Amino acid sequence: MKILLVGDIHKSPYLQSIKEIQDGFDLVLINGDFVSIQHPNETLADDNDFQEILDHFHIPVLYVPGNHDPKSRFESTDKRNIHKKWYNFNGLNIGGLGGATGGIYKHSGIEKFEGFPYDQQSIQTDFNQLISTAPSSFILLTHCGPSNTPTTDENYLLDDKERVDTGADCLYTFHLKKNGCMVHVHGHSHQCFGMTRIGTDLIVNPGALEDGRYGVLEIKEKVSVQFHQF
Ligand SMILES: [Fe+2]
Repeated sequence: MKILLVGDIHKSPYLQSIKEIQDGFDLVLINGDFVSIQHPNETLADDNDFQEILDHFHIPVLYVPGNHDPKSRFESTDKRNIHKKWYNFNGLNIGGLGGATGGIYKHSGIEKFEGFPYDQQSIQTDFNQLISTAPSSFILLTHCGPSNTPTTDENYLLDDKERVDTGADCLYTFHLKKNGCMVHVHGHSHQCFGMTRIGTDLIVNPGALEDGRYGVLEIKEKVSVQFHQF
C-alpha cells in the first residue's frame, strides 16, 4: 500500500501541486492544521477554508484536525475524520488523535504557546481511551508527536534557550513499551521533519506542506518512508 503523508497545510500554496501527484497513491493521511486559527479567534470562513482544502483530495483520505483547525472538526461526524477513532482501510488499522499540547521551553519549563484543545493531562485521557481498543497491529496518526523526540524538539541544541518541546508525554511513554504500532505519523512541528525511533517504533514527521514538504509511506512486507519537497 502506498500512502501520501501530508500535514501542516496552513492554506499552503502547494495545494495544487499535491493535488496533481495524488493519483497513484492508495490513501492520503493528513495530520492536521489545514488552516491557521489562533483560538479562540475563529470565523465561519475558517471552516469553509478547511472544507475547500479537504476537497482538493479525490482519492481516499483519513485525517485528524490540528491545533489551528476549527473547533467543530474535533466533534465531526465525517467518517474520514479519525480523531479519537479507529479506521480499517483495506485491512490496515489506523488510529487517530488530533490537536496538540502546549510547547514548553526546555531550559525553563515555561510554556511558549498554549495547546489546543489539550494539556498533558487531557491528551493522556483521550489517548488512553483510544489505545484501550487498539487492534494488534496499527498505524497511529496524530497531530502533535511524542515529547523528548527529535521530530518534536525544536532548536535541538543543549544550550539553546529557544529549545522547545512540542510533544505529548503520553505519546512518548507509549512507545517505550511493546504496543503493535507499525509507524506513528505526526506533524505540528514544522522544523522537525524527519524520521526517528522510540524503542522499536518508527516515528515520522513528513514536514509542513506550507513549506512544500510531504512524505510517502509504503507498506509491503516492510515499512519504508521517503521525504520530498516541491
Ligand atoms: Fe500544529
